[in-house]
Amino acid sequence: MSESKVKLIIDGTETETVIDQKGKSILEVGIDLGLDPPYSCQGGICTSCRAKVLEGQVHMDVNHALSPREVEKGYVLTCQSHPVSERVVISWDE
Ligand code: FES
Repeated sequence: MSESKVKLIIDGTETETVIDQKGKSILEVGIDLGLDPPYSCQGGICTSCRAKVLEGQVHMDVNHALSPREVEKGYVLTCQSHPVSERVVISWDE
């Protein structure tokens, strides 16, 4: 099982956690931790869960909503995102 050290930044609060790369989405982990991340569809369509990757890499299962330009800038749909690199920093505040 591969895991990543992930820092989640929401409303100026930083939370460190470890996430299974093949497990729950980054959004689900944030919900489980009680961080109250924004979301709606959980299907990669609405962009409510959008956040920016500040460090490391994540993989999105599907992306029906973000433009190539947003993806280029590092934005991801956290409901579809799983960490890929050993260390990831992701912020909902950007
Ligand atoms: S919650 Fe709708 S795209 Fe993630």
